[in-house]
Amino acid sequence: MKLIIAHCKLVTPLGTRARKGAEMKELRVVDDAFIYIDEGIIKATGAMKDIEALGLSGTADWIDAKGRVVLPGFVDSHTHLIFGGYRPDEFSWRLKGDTYMSIMERGGGIQSTVNATRQTGVEELVEKAQWFIDRMVEMGVTTVEAKSGYGLDTETELKMLEAIERLATKEDSRIDIVATFLGAHAVPKEYAGRTGEYCDLIINEMLPKVKDKAKFFDIFTEKNVFEIEDSRRLLKAAREAGMELKLHADEIVQLGGAELAAEMGAVSADHLLHVSDEGIRRMAEAGVVATLLPLTAFALKEPFAPARKFIDGGAAVALATDLNPGSCFSGSIPLTIALACIYMQMSIEEVITALTLNGAAAIGLAGETGSIEPGKKANLTILEFDNYHMLPYYVGMNCVNTTILHGKPIYERTNL
Ligand code: NIG
Ligand code: FE
Repeated sequence: MKLIIAHCKLVTPLGTRARKGAEMKELRVVDDAFIYIDEGIIKATGAMKDIEALGLSGTADWIDAKGRVVLPGFVDSHTHLIFGGYRPDEFSWRLKGDTYMSIMERGGGIQSTVNATRQTGVEELVEKAQWFIDRMVEMGVTTVEAKSGYGLDTETELKMLEAIERLATKEDSRIDIVATFLGAHAVPKEYAGRTGEYCDLIINEMLPKVKDKAKFFDIFTEKNVFEIEDSRRLLKAAREAGMELKLHADEIVQLGGAELAAEMGAVSADHLLHVSDEGIRRMAEAGVVATLLPLTAFALKEPFAPARKFIDGGAAVALATDLNPGSCFSGSIPLTIALACIYMQMSIEEVITALTLNGAAAIGLAGETGSIEPGKKANLTILEFDNYHMLPYYVGMNCVNTTILHGKPIYERTNL
């Protein structure tokens, strides 16, 4: 099937790798442009005045974008999309002053979702995730990363990865999905005080079973969770098993997670609210994508991650939502954009790069999605407006008119 998106304002970063530092603000902008798609792949882009030369008229469906902005589909490169139960009680305790870690230390937090997830069947996990995916699609998301990590036993971790696999292959799930194994999300209650033995279980029993079911290995490197030595041991084992690496790093306290991510050659380190200047420098040098999650900082009332220091230090920044039932129960792309622009001093151009090409790079997909260029998947977002500066200005409001996945409109607020 051939499709032409005509009379759009094309706005995109360019390339097949993460854009770093000052490159992040460079977008290609073409007024009155076309995008020609065949078999779900972008074949050509350019100015409308040059479309005749392609000799396409009559052979393709047309969408007249009427001057609206077309962006690459957003990539939400860090979510905990699969989970049982909810934790509204903890949210209200936090509003009264409890901290995230104090709730976790008294057996709530991640463990509470682990208890619920162990009790939930795979069908129900899939259905629940699909509800969130449907909301994501309305906000222009075409690719999502989803983590396991609420099983913390082999059987439930595999059940979570099975749910992700079903979403990946289900005809009507309407999203591209990448799986991450997060068995090192916490030490489960049955291993309390025996972190080393739980690490042994991950290495000896879980890794061989999950290594072909997830692209990434992720870990919560944090004080009183997996500290640096345990994290290094687990990351090395995962790397030897052939998995690519991610870390939840320096989220609650400064522990050196960013430095460890650089040392291990991780694809990304995420959160980084309390990263050291040295950690920033080493991540930039090692080419580790800094995935910043402003909704989590907002929901935990913590300071935002130092986006400017990363970008000005030459690092590649991605933005993602961290959707999860605990620290950040939101998958809002519009609010992520607003927070990044208003509180993290990122320009809207940098934010667009961070949510598209750099998000794709953070999950190893920059070669196939994240920008509007020939050869890439036709994963696109058509906004309501002809001006991308409307995105942060419309604080927390959804500005997406149409979402296109593999060349097919999968969400249309109005029929263009
Ligand atoms: O990214 N910090 C660790 N993991 C998640 C929260 C998980 C949860 O609270 O359920 C995060 O913030
Ligand atoms: Fe997370």
